[in-house]
Order: sequence, then structure tokens, then C-alpha cells
Amino acid sequence: MARAARVICRSEDVQDGGTAYRFEIDADPRPLPAFVVRHRGAVRAYVNQCAHIPVELDWQPGQVFDRSGLYLICATHGALYDPENGRCLGGPCRGRGLAGLRPIAVTEREGDIVLMDVDHG
Ligand code: FES
Repeated sequence: MARAARVICRSEDVQDGGTAYRFEIDADPRPLPAFVVRHRGAVRAYVNQCAHIPVELDWQPGQVFDRSGLYLICATHGALYDPENGRCLGGPCRGRGLAGLRPIAVTEREGDIVLMDVDHG
């Protein structure tokens, strides 16, 4: 079911390897926490739920990159994820049913980061 595209934030709000921009996506029974980051110049968004235990990755709001700025990391037990596709790369997320973080379709349009018009239900 198509939905109207939604502006999440301005492109300049998300820097490469920097602080993620947090937002929510519609879902049943309640909205899901999510974040968007910039990795190698491209924007990537994920549901903010670790594949190990479904808690938010960031201890400090928006701090989802590890110190190298190359990987996404869960602050709880240190699971590592590929920012390119959300895949689990190491730590407690390994071997869990989920292959990693749940991607969310986003794009950049006229200086905005936009949630693509798809149903994430
Ligand atoms: S809850 Fe994320 S690594 Fe355990």
C-alpha cells in the first residue's frame, strides 16, 4: 500500500559517520524507533532495534557508530553491524533469527532526506 513520502530531516542534518538522526515509522501496534545515518556519502536508515535483544542501539541519542565511524554498534552488548546494509558483522547478534538491522527505504530529494512511500507495517 503506497503512502505519501515523508520528509525526515534536511540532508545537512546527517554527516558521514556522524550522529544519526532519530525518527519514528508507522507500524502496528505502535510506531517503531528508527534512525538515518550517512555512510560513504549515501544515506541509510534502519529500525532502531538490535537483533540480539530488541532494544535501541544508541546509549546517547544518535550515537550509533563505533569509534572508527565504520560500523554501527549496539551500546548494550557491542553487536556490530554493516552501515551499508545493516547486516550483523559480529558480537551477540550472530546466529540470531534476524540477519541484522531492518532497513528502511529512504532517499535524498532537494536537500531533504525522505522516507520512501512504502508501507513498513
Ligand atoms: S542488545 Fe544489542 S548487543 Fe545485546
